Amino acid sequence: MANESRTLLEAYNQTEFQVPGNGKRTVQVLKEALDRVDGETVGDQYGTGPVIESFQTKLADYLGKPSAVFFPSGTMAQQIALRIWCDRLGTKKVAYHPLCHLEIHEQDGLKELHGIEPILLADKDRLITLEDVRGLPDGVAVLLLELPQREIGGQLPSFEELEAIAAYCRRKGIKLHLDGARLFETLPYYGKTAAEICSLFDSAYVSFYKGIGGIAGAILAGDTELTEASKIWKRRHGGDLISLYPYILSSDYYFERRLPKMESYYRGAVELAELYNGVDSIETRPAVPVTNMFHVHASVPAPMLEAALIAVYGQTGIGLTARVNSVNEEACSFEISIGDLYETLPKDRLRRAFLLLNEQLAAK
Ligand SMILES: Cc1ncc(COP(=O)(O)O)c(C=O)c1O
Repeated sequence: MANESRTLLEAYNQTEFQVPGNGKRTVQVLKEALDRVDGETVGDQYGTGPVIESFQTKLADYLGKPSAVFFPSGTMAQQIALRIWCDRLGTKKVAYHPLCHLEIHEQDGLKELHGIEPILLADKDRLITLEDVRGLPDGVAVLLLELPQREIGGQLPSFEELEAIAAYCRRKGIKLHLDGARLFETLPYYGKTAAEICSLFDSAYVSFYKGIGGIAGAILAGDTELTEASKIWKRRHGGDLISLYPYILSSDYYFERRLPKMESYYRGAVELAELYNGVDSIETRPAVPVTNMFHVHASVPAPMLEAALIAVYGQTGIGLTARVNSVNEEACSFEISIGDLYETLPKDRLRRAFLLLNEQLAAK
């Protein structure tokens, strides 16, 4: 497997056009962002100074919250937000989706560092609904909702369902926290501003290196009591670096540059998913994307799909994905996120790549 996936990666790296993403994450990403900054600009120091404070104010305003704090990572920001809500409500229980980032990608930080017990809501393969939330036991301090739910292909609840969940939580005194790692990417589908969506939540985290394509960095927004407490926790977690300006300046640069492109990324994802769904043994999840991302599921073994993809890359110069994950012996999947590269593709060659992929898989 390891060898085969390396071969797919090599074939992908040799293609002339790559379909997903914003391009390679080289040092040029930082150089480009810093190029337009005056070299005499004074860096931030331990969370103070114009560079960090102005970006925090800008994002607080954008998200419609009284206050915001810049963090080096979303992992740190969210564990801290949940800890603060638990302390404020005097319980150690939070609720979230079984496949949310905190549960499967953070080495149990929330449990190990904060002694917080998560209640896993909903089945793994679907979104949390109002009915799930109504079934919560007493004593839950905060419900975390991830928009979109990445591990199930980037699905979204309707805005009405979100409003109903928010109203229920408010009535029950349950705080609502937004994992908005990809919030910007949801805006075209909802047809709402970020502030309108965040108004349903007591606190929100957003990321600057997903669709925005920066280097790293996160904002946690909420009331001033929450953000002030979060600064203390940031220090305790070792996240209060003397200077965070490389992350802040690049976050700001790519936020300005890519936020206006979210609609085009979303349209690209819808178009590309249609091409995937035209291949016999492939379907996307969701069938019609609601953001710039979706998952591709193939009912063939991973090595078979990899071999077909390598042939397609070689014949068309189009790289569809760098990796494929095995689901079981008969199925595999991978994730696609649309960024800047999609609009630069020759569409006739892209369509040819899918015709060839279909032929390759039919011949196996
Ligand atoms: C949904 C979601 N939440 C939180 C995070 C954590 O972000 P960070 O990598 O900045 O810690 C990620 C990162 O991939 C994510 O996808």
